[in-house]
Amino acid sequence: MDVRKSIGELHAEWENCVLCDLGERRNTVEGSFVAGEGVTRGIMFVGEGPGRTEEEEGRPFCGKSGELLREVIEKLGLTNVSYITNVVACRSCAPDVDDKGNQNYRTTKTGQRLPKYKDQPPLQAHINACLPRLHEEIYLVDPIIIVTLGAIAASALQQRTVSITTEAGKETHVEIPGALHTYKFQRRTKRPVAPTSNAVRYLCVPTLHPAYVLRSIADHSETGSMQRFYNHIKSAASTFERYAPLVNRNNAVSVYKGD
Ligand code: URA
Repeated sequence: MDVRKSIGELHAEWENCVLCDLGERRNTVEGSFVAGEGVTRGIMFVGEGPGRTEEEEGRPFCGKSGELLREVIEKLGLTNVSYITNVVACRSCAPDVDDKGNQNYRTTKTGQRLPKYKDQPPLQAHINACLPRLHEEIYLVDPIIIVTLGAIAASALQQRTVSITTEAGKETHVEIPGALHTYKFQRRTKRPVAPTSNAVRYLCVPTLHPAYVLRSIADHSETGSMQRFYNHIKSAASTFERYAPLVNRNNAVSVYKGD
């Protein structure tokens, strides 16, 4: 991790990435790298990966579930303190075929007829390939609190299988690799040191994925999912408000003296 890098430089480094087949598809079939957007040192929302709308618009969470997420963010007055990104930056999808296995097609706004793809959750290989990007993004955004949306994002950041049913709304910590030890540090030890990084801990709260909330409302499978989703983000907002005053004008964190 090079601490002098900007978020824009990080995105530029990754926008042509072909470390997994999602990047291959983006390059050879269609799509775009969907970079995170928003404000540093605030609340960072991490989703699973862009869907069709996000791929077309090149922005995270701008489809149906994005509408819900952004509505809650706005309702809680968090628009100017939020950053939104995803675990994987390219769309994960599979060819959409009919009952007989024939490819379905769609017509674009410009009248082009293109093969239809259906969104699917990213595979572990996609997550592994994109995780170093997300880690660097977190380091650069340096949020006061991270809100993971759904099990995939929570599990990717916590490096274990997270059950949203039991763990949503419970604040925890995630560790991400920080800056590499410098050459100066290596000189001080007077022996060659393999570059390693200091881990940085961030407060994190897992919540439901907004797509799940929408689905459970539509099929009546869970009452109260909307309220739970709202409450988890509201409680992340109060944690943010509690710690935000400690970040002074020079962007250095001042000492917390207790409540
Ligand atoms: N779902 C996600 O997880 N991320 C998006 O950007 C959009 C939908």
